[in-house]
Amino acid sequence: MKKRVYSKEKVDNIYQKKNTVKIVVLIFATLIAGGSVYYTNSLVEELKERERSFINLYAETLEMVANSEGDDIPFLFQQVIVPNNSIPVILTDSYGNYIEGRNLGLKDSYSEEKRARIIEEQLEEMRALYDHIEIVLTNPTTGMVDGYQFVYYKNSFLLTQLQYYPYVQLSVIAVFALLTYTVFSYSRRAEQNRVWIGMAKETAHQLGTPLSSLMAWLEFFRSDPDRYDPAIIKELDKDIQRLEMITSRFSSIGSVPTLKKENITSTIKGTIHYLEKRISTKVKMQVQSTSDDIDVLMNRPLFEWVIENICKNAVDAMSGVGSINIEIRQEKNKAIIDIADTGKGIQKSKVNQVFTPGYTTKKRGWGLGLSLAQRIIENYHRGKIFVKESEVDVGTTFRIILHTEKRSVNGEKTQNRPELMKEH
Ligand SMILES: Nc1ncnc2c1ncn2[C@@H]1O[C@H](COP(=O)(O)OP(=O)(O)OP(=O)(O)O)[C@@H](O)[C@H]1O
Ligand SMILES: [Mg+2]
Repeated sequence: MKKRVYSKEKVDNIYQKKNTVKIVVLIFATLIAGGSVYYTNSLVEELKERERSFINLYAETLEMVANSEGDDIPFLFQQVIVPNNSIPVILTDSYGNYIEGRNLGLKDSYSEEKRARIIEEQLEEMRALYDHIEIVLTNPTTGMVDGYQFVYYKNSFLLTQLQYYPYVQLSVIAVFALLTYTVFSYSRRAEQNRVWIGMAKETAHQLGTPLSSLMAWLEFFRSDPDRYDPAIIKELDKDIQRLEMITSRFSSIGSVPTLKKENITSTIKGTIHYLEKRISTKVKMQVQSTSDDIDVLMNRPLFEWVIENICKNAVDAMSGVGSINIEIRQEKNKAIIDIADTGKGIQKSKVNQVFTPGYTTKKRGWGLGLSLAQRIIENYHRGKIFVKESEVDVGTTFRIILHTEKRSVNGEKTQNRPELMKEH
């Protein structure tokens, strides 16, 4: 017994640790992402400032070139205008008509129309982005103002790229992280799966030997009714049958179970009948069905195990007094089974955890009943099982949904193939 208590505490610890690790990883990821975006943004701002002062100088140079007749023109051109091979600029007259431009991505092979369209588009973009810089044209001889020209510009390709870089980088990292996580969790699930199957097979195998020996003994006792009391033999037979059922459950879960059409109502009634004799008489069990002939594709020993687990939990939840109501109905090609109890209920924050292997609130629980039920319903029957509703001190309703018809794959009606590699 010591071992069980220890395992429960350990499991609680694992869940707490898992959550803490998740929170720490999330905080770190957010800090890294935020830091990276902040740093790149400050680089972008600095580069923007540089480009702005360069364009101011550029406009001043253009103004000087336009207003001067001196010898310094070629020098200024060489120093300021020519080196600008990154910032897109457009010079227009005061009416907004294009005079010249640089770095607009215009190729010689483009037609006049295409060039005009590109210039117009870029000019629109520049107008929306930054204010234009005015160039005052003066007459060199009279010194009078002759007119104005405008310089429009936008961010260089480098600056634009730098602006988006952290987002692209973070998205790539996020995709990579997600992919790695998926691969790891898949391999972890596959491993868990092998353990489940291996353990189940081994248990069935181990039980098999003493069971066949017990059956032989039973036959031996039967052969001599005068010496051995038939009442005892009957009880022994029941126990052996129970052991056989357990073995068949374990061997079914350890292999690909075959699904057969079974009547759901009679299967559930059979299980309830069996359970009724083993629990307190103060727990009332009731099965209601909208129809008596709802056939479901199932593996009977495994499905009975699910019902047993859920009902046992319900009995545990109501400390001996209360009722369990099972409602069965058909909706299209699905059978819906609601199992409602009047137990102590499950807290909202814990509802998502009840199917996790190892989660238990019981001193002597293993926390395996519901995870086994989920595995049986979802992996072996391709159905669904979930907590439909639960209220503390009022009760809990579990819902199971199973297929009533063979599901069609590629247009053909086929038998449900259990997906053994899926794990929860
Ligand atoms: N009907 C219910 N009402 C209230 N709580 C429930 C109910 N069913 C399950 N739970 C909660 O979910 C937990 C997990 O149930 P599960 O059947 O997986 O494990 P367990 O019953 O604790 O142990 P085991 O079934 O392995 O002996 C339970 O410990 C209990 O806290
Ligand atoms: Mg249980």
